[in-house]
This record gives sequence, structure tokens and C-alpha cells, in this order.
Amino acid sequence: MKKTVLVSGGAGFIGSHVTVELSQAGYDVVIADNMSNCDDTNYKGVCAILGRKLPFENIDFCDAAAVSALFDKYTIDAVIHFAAYKAVGESVAEPLMYYKNNLGSFLNVLEASKNHGTHVLFSSSATVYGEPEKAPVTEESPRQPATSPYGNTKQMCEDFLRDCVKAYGMHGIALRYFNPIGAHPSALIGELPRGVPNNLVPFITQTAAGKRECLSIFGNDYPTPDGTCLRDYIDITDLAKAHVCAVTRMIENRMDEPYEIFNVGTGRPVSVLELVNAFEKVNNLKLNYRFAARRPGDVVGIWADPSLAERKLGWKAVRTVEETLASAWAWEKHLMEQALQDK
Ligand code: UFG
Repeated sequence: MKKTVLVSGGAGFIGSHVTVELSQAGYDVVIADNMSNCDDTNYKGVCAILGRKLPFENIDFCDAAAVSALFDKYTIDAVIHFAAYKAVGESVAEPLMYYKNNLGSFLNVLEASKNHGTHVLFSSSATVYGEPEKAPVTEESPRQPATSPYGNTKQMCEDFLRDCVKAYGMHGIALRYFNPIGAHPSALIGELPRGVPNNLVPFITQTAAGKRECLSIFGNDYPTPDGTCLRDYIDITDLAKAHVCAVTRMIENRMDEPYEIFNVGTGRPVSVLELVNAFEKVNNLKLNYRFAARRPGDVVGIWADPSLAERKLGWKAVRTVEETLASAWAWEKHLMEQALQDK
């Protein structure tokens, strides 16, 4: 019998890509989202890629009664929880908003999962490692005190899951993402930042598209080979496939421990400047950029040791940075064409 996965935040950037991969792997997917941080572009794109309409529920995961009713309505084998706020700077300015939303929604998911025997996959982040003592980081590398309420919610939600698994005999996996970038090869779904993008790749593509005048590279005096920060940029489709492996591991009872953590990265450090150069080269264009002051809070360099995921999940990133950057640009061009058609 087909298994059903609930994807909270399924209309967002990561959620929509995960929905596609789960569906193509043979899972029934229920998308739930309150559309507070996106429009229906990605939902429509998911349906276009799959050639059918997927069940969609407009709910706020902070509403405990609504979450409980959702778990009653469907027989959900596993839930993947993405529904959360994700802007680091905003979380510093509005900590209560972040704590209420990101913690409250996950507590409701945990409670409903406990009551229904549902497996839980939590979308965590490499942000929990802070400025690592050494890179690459393994899952055993120590977590550092969070430097923002956003980062704190990731750490706290990991702990909520660990404790619930222990107390209630549940099963849970936390995936720690490095820097997800790119878009689906169809260019029908992708990242849709509201306002000025905080993250590097959407800023690059919007600059190339002429929506932004100039990319600022934050800092070129870091102790790295070219002076710019090092990150582990993971293709969004590769990242989405890690979720299929993790959900299957839970559903098929193949876990070694009832609570497991996996890094989801490539293991390949890439500097900001290297990424910009690769974007220019693969897409055959020139980007207007300048070096600017360091951005407060940035870590110098972090990248994953992804070997645990390879060993236990049977998952490995396969796409090259060039392929991913080509997909990011294809998506931006798709958005430009859409905007022209809508005029
Ligand atoms: N950068 C620029 N210019 C920009 C934007 C980013 O030079 O306009 C640089 C940053 O300084 C950094 C790199 O590009 O060196 C990557 O920055 P992103 O904002 O794309 O990603 P981060 O590594 O800062 O963010 C990631 C996740 C967040 C998470 C954060 C915690 O995307 O969700 O790590 O450190 F919270």
C-alpha cells in the first residue's frame, strides 16, 4: 500500500522540491501551508511537473486543533516539517515572532505525531554548528550557542524531537542542511524570496536579471584562499532526494537509533568568489559585483562531512555546482517570462 507523507510548508522552496521527489518515488503527498511567506507559484509548478493536482490544505501549524484535525483527516505515515520563518536578521529584530511560530508549530506537529504514531523528519540547519572549530563538520561536531533566535529555534526543535522520541517511543530524523541552492531542472519551481534576497544565489540571479544593480560580496579579507567565505552549496534536487531516503528509512524501520541526525551537504567547500565566477562562466554572462564590508554574524567557513548520510541513507549529492547554477538562472529567466506574460 502506498504510504502518505505530510509536508508542512510544502509550497515553499525546499518543501516543493521535496514534494516532487517524494511523489516521483511513489509516495502520496499532502501539502500543507498557510501561504504566509509564498504565493501559489510553487504549488502550481509541482502540479505541472507531476501532471496532477496534489491535495493541498491551507492551515497554520500554530493552530493545534487544525493540526490535530489534519492528522485525523489523512492516514499520515510520516511528516516532514518545513513550516517556519527563516530570516536570520528578522529573527534578531522579532524574536517572539520566531519563537512563537517556529517552536509552536513544531510542538503541535510533535503532539499530533505522538497521538497518531507518525514518523517525524525535522528540517534543521548547519547553523547549529555555528563557527566550527574545524571543517568539515560531522554530526558529532559540537553545536555552538546560537547567534540568532532563528538558529536557536533550529537547536531547540532538534532537542524537542530527541526528547519526544525518547519519551514516547517515536521515530525521528533531523536533517542538517548546508546551503541549498538552485532550482528544479524543469525550471517550474524554485526559490521566491520576498523583497531583497538575503541569500547569495537569489541575489546573484536577480542581479544578472537586472532586478538588482550590484551584488555586494561581504568581505574579501577572510583567512581563506581568496579572502571570501567558504560554504557547502547543495543542489536543491539533491537535497530533496535525501528526504526520500530518510523518510523511507523511518517507514521501513531501518533506523539504527530511534532519533538520528544527518548532514546534508556535498563535502565541497566553495568560496563566494568561486561561486560568482562559476555562475558567470556556466551562464555566459558578466555579473556586476563589488567587494563590501563583512556581514555581521557570518562564519568564515563551514562545509559538511556527508559520509554518514552516504553510509546510512545511501544518499550522496551528485549534481555539480555548474549544473546547479545553470538551473538557478533558468528559474530566474522563467520568472521573468512569467512576469512578461502577466503584464
Ligand atoms: N553573501 C554575499 N552577498 C550577498 C549574500 C550573501 O557575499 O548578497 C555571502 C555571505 O556573506 C556568505 C555566503 O554569501 O559568505 C552565503 O550567504 P547566504 O546568506 O546565502 O547563506 P548563509 O551561509 O549565511 O546562510 C545559511 C542558511 C541560513 C542559515 C545560515 C546560518 O541559508 O538559513 O546559514 O549561518 F541560517
